[in-house]
Amino acid sequence: MISKLPRKGIDRIRWLLVVSVSGLLLAMLLPAVAQEASEDLPYIPTVLITGANRGLGLEFTRQYVDRGWRVIATARRPDAADDLNALAEKHPGLVIIEQLDVQDFDVIDALSEKYADTPIDILLNNAGINGGARNQMFRKLQYEAFDEVLLTNTIAPLKMSEAFYENVLASQQKKIVTVSSSEGSIGGATQPRLYFYRSSKAAVNMLMVNLALQLKRKGISVGMVNPGPTDTDFMAGLPKSMLRSPTDAVADMIRNIDGLNLETSGTFWQYDGTIIPW
Ligand SMILES: NC(=O)c1ccc[n+]([C@@H]2O[C@H](COP(=O)([O-])OP(=O)(O)OC[C@H]3O[C@@H](n4cnc5c(N)ncnc54)[C@H](OP(=O)(O)O)[C@@H]3O)[C@@H](O)[C@H]2O)c1
Repeated sequence: MISKLPRKGIDRIRWLLVVSVSGLLLAMLLPAVAQEASEDLPYIPTVLITGANRGLGLEFTRQYVDRGWRVIATARRPDAADDLNALAEKHPGLVIIEQLDVQDFDVIDALSEKYADTPIDILLNNAGINGGARNQMFRKLQYEAFDEVLLTNTIAPLKMSEAFYENVLASQQKKIVTVSSSEGSIGGATQPRLYFYRSSKAAVNMLMVNLALQLKRKGISVGMVNPGPTDTDFMAGLPKSMLRSPTDAVADMIRNIDGLNLETSGTFWQYDGTIIPW
Protein backbone atom coordinates (compact mmCIF):
# COMPACT_ATOMS: atom_id res chain seq x y z
CA MET A 1 0.00 0.00 0.00
CA ILE A 2 1.19 3.58 -0.69
CA SER A 3 1.78 5.59 2.53
CA LYS A 4 0.55 9.17 3.22
CA LEU A 5 2.13 12.15 1.34
CA PRO A 6 5.20 13.37 3.33
CA ARG A 7 5.11 17.12 4.00
CA LYS A 8 8.49 18.14 2.44
CA GLY A 9 12.03 17.28 1.34
CA ILE A 10 13.46 14.27 -0.44
CA ASP A 11 10.79 11.94 1.03
CA ARG A 12 8.08 13.95 -0.65
CA ILE A 13 9.83 13.68 -4.06
CA ARG A 14 10.39 9.93 -3.55
CA TRP A 15 6.77 9.52 -2.58
CA LEU A 16 5.56 11.37 -5.67
CA LEU A 17 7.84 9.25 -7.86
CA VAL A 18 6.56 5.99 -6.39
CA VAL A 19 2.92 7.07 -6.82
CA SER A 20 3.43 8.18 -10.45
CA VAL A 21 5.33 5.04 -11.45
CA SER A 22 2.73 2.76 -9.80
CA GLY A 23 -0.08 4.67 -11.55
CA LEU A 24 1.69 4.35 -14.87
CA LEU A 25 2.26 0.62 -14.41
CA LEU A 26 -1.39 0.09 -13.47
CA ALA A 27 -2.58 2.06 -16.49
CA MET A 28 -0.35 -0.07 -18.72
CA LEU A 29 -1.34 -3.39 -17.18
CA LEU A 30 -5.10 -2.98 -16.75
CA PRO A 31 -6.09 -2.95 -20.44
CA ALA A 32 -3.95 -6.05 -21.05
CA VAL A 33 -5.59 -7.85 -18.11
CA ALA A 34 -9.07 -6.78 -19.29
CA GLN A 35 -8.32 -7.91 -22.84
CA GLU A 36 -7.03 -11.26 -21.62
CA ALA A 37 -10.17 -11.71 -19.55
CA SER A 38 -12.43 -10.89 -22.53
CA GLU A 39 -10.41 -13.23 -24.76
CA ASP A 40 -11.11 -15.99 -22.26
CA LEU A 41 -14.88 -15.46 -22.54
CA PRO A 42 -16.43 -17.69 -25.21
CA TYR A 43 -17.87 -15.81 -28.20
CA ILE A 44 -21.64 -16.11 -28.23
CA PRO A 45 -22.97 -15.78 -31.79
CA THR A 46 -26.06 -13.65 -32.30
CA VAL A 47 -28.94 -14.12 -34.74
CA LEU A 48 -31.64 -11.52 -35.38
CA ILE A 49 -34.91 -13.11 -36.50
CA THR A 50 -37.96 -11.32 -37.90
CA GLY A 51 -41.41 -12.77 -37.20
CA ALA A 52 -40.10 -14.77 -34.25
CA ASN A 53 -43.39 -15.04 -32.34
CA ARG A 54 -44.88 -18.04 -34.16
CA GLY A 55 -44.39 -20.58 -36.92
CA LEU A 56 -40.90 -21.01 -38.34
CA GLY A 57 -39.53 -17.87 -36.65
CA LEU A 58 -40.43 -19.22 -33.21
CA GLU A 59 -38.88 -22.58 -34.05
CA PHE A 60 -35.71 -20.86 -35.35
CA THR A 61 -35.51 -19.02 -32.01
CA ARG A 62 -35.92 -22.29 -30.10
CA GLN A 63 -33.26 -24.14 -32.09
CA TYR A 64 -30.70 -21.33 -32.11
CA VAL A 65 -31.03 -20.75 -28.36
CA ASP A 66 -30.71 -24.50 -27.78
CA ARG A 67 -27.38 -24.25 -29.59
CA GLY A 68 -26.29 -21.59 -27.09
CA TRP A 69 -26.80 -18.62 -29.44
CA ARG A 70 -28.14 -15.24 -28.45
CA VAL A 71 -31.37 -14.46 -30.33
CA ILE A 72 -32.74 -10.99 -30.97
CA ALA A 73 -36.27 -12.21 -31.55
CA THR A 74 -38.46 -9.58 -33.16
CA ALA A 75 -42.24 -9.58 -33.25
CA ARG A 76 -44.97 -7.17 -34.30
CA ARG A 77 -46.73 -7.55 -30.95
CA PRO A 78 -44.42 -8.74 -28.18
CA ASP A 79 -47.23 -8.37 -25.61
CA ALA A 80 -49.25 -11.04 -27.42
CA ALA A 81 -46.26 -13.31 -28.13
CA ASP A 82 -46.93 -15.82 -25.33
CA ASP A 83 -44.75 -18.68 -26.62
CA LEU A 84 -41.86 -16.33 -27.34
CA ASN A 85 -42.17 -14.68 -23.92
CA ALA A 86 -42.10 -18.13 -22.29
CA LEU A 87 -38.93 -18.95 -24.23
CA ALA A 88 -37.33 -15.65 -23.15
CA GLU A 89 -38.16 -16.42 -19.51
CA LYS A 90 -36.55 -19.83 -19.84
CA HIS A 91 -33.39 -18.34 -21.38
CA PRO A 92 -32.81 -14.98 -19.70
CA GLY A 93 -30.30 -12.82 -21.57
CA LEU A 94 -30.21 -15.19 -24.53
CA VAL A 95 -33.65 -14.53 -26.01
CA ILE A 96 -34.16 -10.78 -26.28
CA ILE A 97 -37.53 -9.70 -27.61
CA GLU A 98 -37.84 -6.52 -29.67
CA GLN A 99 -40.90 -4.94 -31.24
CA LEU A 100 -40.65 -4.82 -35.03
CA ASP A 101 -43.14 -4.56 -37.83
CA VAL A 102 -40.94 -4.96 -40.90
CA GLN A 103 -43.21 -2.64 -42.87
CA ASP A 104 -42.20 0.21 -40.58
CA PHE A 105 -38.83 1.46 -41.80
CA ASP A 106 -38.53 4.08 -39.03
CA VAL A 107 -38.72 1.30 -36.46
CA ILE A 108 -36.13 -0.73 -38.42
CA ASP A 109 -33.79 2.29 -38.33
CA ALA A 110 -34.41 2.88 -34.62
CA LEU A 111 -33.70 -0.77 -33.84
CA SER A 112 -30.48 -0.76 -35.84
CA GLU A 113 -29.42 2.38 -33.93
CA LYS A 114 -30.23 0.69 -30.62
CA TYR A 115 -27.99 -2.25 -31.60
CA ALA A 116 -25.31 -0.09 -33.26
CA ASP A 117 -22.46 -1.74 -31.31
CA THR A 118 -23.75 -5.31 -31.44
CA PRO A 119 -22.26 -7.80 -33.90
CA ILE A 120 -25.01 -9.88 -35.55
CA ASP A 121 -23.73 -13.14 -37.02
CA ILE A 122 -26.90 -13.96 -38.91
CA LEU A 123 -29.60 -11.58 -40.01
CA LEU A 124 -32.52 -13.92 -40.63
CA ASN A 125 -35.31 -12.42 -42.74
CA ASN A 126 -38.10 -14.83 -41.88
CA ALA A 127 -41.28 -12.73 -41.57
CA GLY A 128 -43.59 -13.24 -44.50
CA ILE A 129 -47.20 -13.27 -45.63
CA ASN A 130 -48.91 -15.17 -48.43
CA GLY A 131 -51.41 -12.42 -49.20
CA GLY A 132 -54.45 -14.69 -49.13
CA ALA A 133 -55.31 -17.03 -52.03
CA ARG A 134 -58.62 -15.26 -52.67
CA ASN A 135 -56.90 -11.92 -53.34
CA GLN A 136 -54.79 -13.51 -56.04
CA MET A 137 -57.36 -14.99 -58.46
CA PHE A 138 -56.85 -13.77 -62.02
CA ARG A 139 -59.62 -11.30 -62.99
CA LYS A 140 -60.38 -10.73 -59.30
CA LEU A 141 -56.92 -9.58 -58.28
CA GLN A 142 -56.91 -7.34 -55.20
CA TYR A 143 -53.99 -5.05 -55.87
CA GLU A 144 -53.75 -3.55 -52.36
CA ALA A 145 -52.83 -7.05 -51.18
CA PHE A 146 -49.98 -7.05 -53.71
CA ASP A 147 -48.54 -3.89 -52.09
CA GLU A 148 -48.61 -5.56 -48.65
CA VAL A 149 -47.02 -8.76 -49.91
CA LEU A 150 -44.25 -6.95 -51.78
CA LEU A 151 -43.49 -4.65 -48.87
CA THR A 152 -43.29 -7.50 -46.35
CA ASN A 153 -41.67 -10.28 -48.37
CA THR A 154 -39.46 -8.37 -50.79
CA ILE A 155 -38.70 -4.78 -49.84
CA ALA A 156 -38.39 -5.26 -46.06
CA PRO A 157 -35.64 -7.93 -46.28
CA LEU A 158 -33.60 -5.50 -48.40
CA LYS A 159 -34.23 -2.66 -45.94
CA MET A 160 -33.26 -4.94 -43.02
CA SER A 161 -30.06 -5.91 -44.84
CA GLU A 162 -29.13 -2.25 -45.32
CA ALA A 163 -30.02 -1.30 -41.77
CA PHE A 164 -28.09 -4.18 -40.12
CA TYR A 165 -25.20 -4.37 -42.60
CA GLU A 166 -22.66 -2.89 -40.14
CA ASN A 167 -23.75 -5.35 -37.43
CA VAL A 168 -23.28 -8.33 -39.74
CA LEU A 169 -19.94 -6.95 -40.93
CA ALA A 170 -18.73 -6.69 -37.32
CA SER A 171 -19.62 -10.32 -36.52
CA GLN A 172 -17.68 -13.56 -36.89
CA GLN A 173 -20.04 -15.49 -39.20
CA LYS A 174 -21.25 -12.57 -41.37
CA LYS A 175 -24.40 -14.03 -42.93
CA ILE A 176 -27.62 -12.60 -44.30
CA VAL A 177 -30.31 -15.23 -44.88
CA THR A 178 -33.81 -14.91 -46.25
CA VAL A 179 -36.53 -17.53 -45.92
CA SER A 180 -37.75 -17.66 -49.49
CA SER A 181 -40.02 -20.24 -51.10
CA SER A 182 -39.92 -22.71 -53.98
CA GLU A 183 -43.13 -20.89 -55.01
CA GLY A 184 -40.75 -18.15 -56.18
CA SER A 185 -38.96 -20.48 -58.59
CA ILE A 186 -39.84 -19.50 -62.14
CA GLY A 187 -38.23 -22.70 -63.46
CA GLY A 188 -40.37 -24.76 -61.08
CA ALA A 189 -43.73 -23.11 -61.91
CA THR A 190 -46.08 -25.49 -63.73
CA GLN A 191 -49.53 -24.36 -62.48
CA PRO A 192 -50.92 -20.82 -62.11
CA ARG A 193 -51.50 -19.70 -58.49
CA LEU A 194 -50.59 -17.08 -55.87
CA TYR A 195 -49.56 -14.34 -58.31
CA PHE A 196 -48.45 -11.90 -55.61
CA TYR A 197 -46.76 -14.31 -53.25
CA ARG A 198 -44.82 -16.11 -55.96
CA SER A 199 -43.55 -12.94 -57.58
CA SER A 200 -42.60 -11.47 -54.17
CA LYS A 201 -40.34 -14.47 -53.51
CA ALA A 202 -38.87 -14.47 -57.06
CA ALA A 203 -38.09 -10.77 -56.58
CA VAL A 204 -36.54 -11.20 -53.13
CA ASN A 205 -34.30 -13.90 -54.60
CA MET A 206 -32.99 -11.42 -57.17
CA LEU A 207 -32.41 -8.80 -54.47
CA MET A 208 -30.46 -11.33 -52.40
CA VAL A 209 -28.36 -12.44 -55.39
CA ASN A 210 -27.50 -8.78 -55.96
CA LEU A 211 -26.60 -8.43 -52.30
CA ALA A 212 -24.44 -11.58 -52.45
CA LEU A 213 -22.50 -10.06 -55.35
CA GLN A 214 -22.26 -6.70 -53.59
CA LEU A 215 -21.10 -7.97 -50.22
CA LYS A 216 -18.76 -10.84 -51.14
CA ARG A 217 -15.70 -8.59 -51.06
CA LYS A 218 -16.74 -7.50 -47.57
CA GLY A 219 -16.73 -11.13 -46.42
CA ILE A 220 -20.52 -11.29 -46.01
CA SER A 221 -22.36 -14.37 -47.36
CA VAL A 222 -25.97 -14.13 -48.47
CA GLY A 223 -28.28 -17.12 -48.87
CA MET A 224 -31.89 -18.14 -49.40
CA VAL A 225 -33.53 -21.16 -47.78
CA ASN A 226 -36.80 -22.95 -48.40
CA PRO A 227 -38.55 -24.84 -45.58
CA GLY A 228 -40.78 -26.92 -47.86
CA PRO A 229 -44.52 -27.14 -47.12
CA THR A 230 -44.60 -26.84 -43.32
CA ASP A 231 -47.30 -27.09 -40.70
CA THR A 232 -47.65 -23.45 -39.59
CA ASP A 233 -50.55 -20.96 -39.73
CA PHE A 234 -49.20 -20.07 -43.16
CA MET A 235 -50.48 -23.39 -44.51
CA ALA A 236 -53.71 -23.49 -42.48
CA GLY A 237 -56.38 -25.61 -44.20
CA LEU A 238 -53.99 -28.00 -45.95
CA PRO A 239 -54.04 -31.64 -44.86
CA LYS A 240 -51.40 -32.28 -42.19
CA SER A 241 -50.22 -35.33 -44.13
CA MET A 242 -48.88 -32.96 -46.83
CA LEU A 243 -46.91 -30.88 -44.36
CA ARG A 244 -43.53 -31.16 -42.66
CA SER A 245 -43.04 -30.42 -38.99
CA PRO A 246 -41.57 -26.99 -38.09
CA THR A 247 -38.88 -28.85 -36.09
CA ASP A 248 -37.66 -30.72 -39.19
CA ALA A 249 -38.08 -27.74 -41.52
CA VAL A 250 -36.00 -25.47 -39.28
CA ALA A 251 -33.34 -28.11 -38.57
CA ASP A 252 -32.96 -28.54 -42.35
CA MET A 253 -32.76 -24.79 -42.97
CA ILE A 254 -30.18 -24.35 -40.19
CA ARG A 255 -28.07 -27.09 -41.74
CA ASN A 256 -28.13 -25.19 -45.03
CA ILE A 257 -27.37 -21.90 -43.25
CA ASP A 258 -24.40 -23.62 -41.59
CA GLY A 259 -23.19 -24.53 -45.09
CA LEU A 260 -23.46 -20.95 -46.32
CA ASN A 261 -20.05 -19.37 -46.90
CA LEU A 262 -18.41 -17.01 -49.36
CA GLU A 263 -18.10 -19.77 -51.97
CA THR A 264 -21.76 -20.78 -51.72
CA SER A 265 -23.02 -17.20 -51.33
CA GLY A 266 -26.01 -16.43 -53.55
CA THR A 267 -27.41 -19.99 -53.34
CA PHE A 268 -31.13 -20.79 -53.01
CA TRP A 269 -31.41 -24.04 -51.04
CA GLN A 270 -34.20 -26.57 -50.90
CA TYR A 271 -34.57 -28.02 -47.40
CA ASP A 272 -32.81 -31.23 -48.44
CA GLY A 273 -29.69 -29.32 -49.47
CA THR A 274 -30.32 -29.43 -53.23
CA ILE A 275 -30.39 -26.20 -55.21
CA ILE A 276 -33.70 -24.77 -56.39
CA PRO A 277 -33.79 -23.50 -60.00
CA TRP A 278 -34.43 -19.78 -60.38
N1 LIG B 1 -44.97 -22.63 -43.89
C1 LIG B 1 -44.59 -22.93 -45.10
O1 LIG B 1 -45.00 -23.98 -45.65
C2 LIG B 1 -43.66 -22.07 -45.87
C3 LIG B 1 -43.20 -22.52 -47.11
C4 LIG B 1 -42.31 -21.73 -47.83
C5 LIG B 1 -41.87 -20.54 -47.31
N2 LIG B 1 -42.35 -20.10 -46.10
C6 LIG B 1 -41.85 -18.82 -45.62
O2 LIG B 1 -41.44 -18.96 -44.27
C7 LIG B 1 -41.56 -17.71 -43.60
C8 LIG B 1 -42.25 -17.92 -42.26
O3 LIG B 1 -43.52 -18.48 -42.52
P1 LIG B 1 -44.34 -19.32 -41.44
O4 LIG B 1 -44.71 -20.58 -42.07
O5 LIG B 1 -43.66 -19.30 -40.15
O6 LIG B 1 -45.64 -18.39 -41.38
P2 LIG B 1 -46.57 -17.94 -40.16
O7 LIG B 1 -46.73 -19.05 -39.20
O8 LIG B 1 -47.77 -17.37 -40.82
O9 LIG B 1 -45.72 -16.79 -39.46
C9 LIG B 1 -45.42 -15.62 -40.15
C10 LIG B 1 -44.61 -14.72 -39.25
O10 LIG B 1 -44.32 -13.53 -39.96
C11 LIG B 1 -44.72 -12.43 -39.15
N3 LIG B 1 -45.06 -11.24 -39.94
C12 LIG B 1 -45.94 -11.10 -40.94
N4 LIG B 1 -45.98 -9.81 -41.35
C13 LIG B 1 -45.07 -9.14 -40.60
C14 LIG B 1 -44.65 -7.80 -40.52
N5 LIG B 1 -45.16 -6.84 -41.33
N6 LIG B 1 -43.69 -7.47 -39.62
C15 LIG B 1 -43.16 -8.40 -38.81
N7 LIG B 1 -43.55 -9.68 -38.80
C16 LIG B 1 -44.50 -10.04 -39.69
C17 LIG B 1 -45.91 -12.93 -38.39
O11 LIG B 1 -46.17 -12.07 -37.30
P3 LIG B 1 -47.68 -11.87 -36.71
O12 LIG B 1 -47.90 -13.01 -35.74
O13 LIG B 1 -47.63 -10.54 -36.07
O14 LIG B 1 -48.62 -11.94 -37.86
C18 LIG B 1 -45.40 -14.32 -37.99
O15 LIG B 1 -44.51 -14.20 -36.91
C19 LIG B 1 -42.30 -16.78 -44.55
O16 LIG B 1 -41.38 -15.92 -45.16
C20 LIG B 1 -42.89 -17.72 -45.58
O17 LIG B 1 -43.03 -17.12 -46.85
C21 LIG B 1 -43.22 -20.84 -45.39
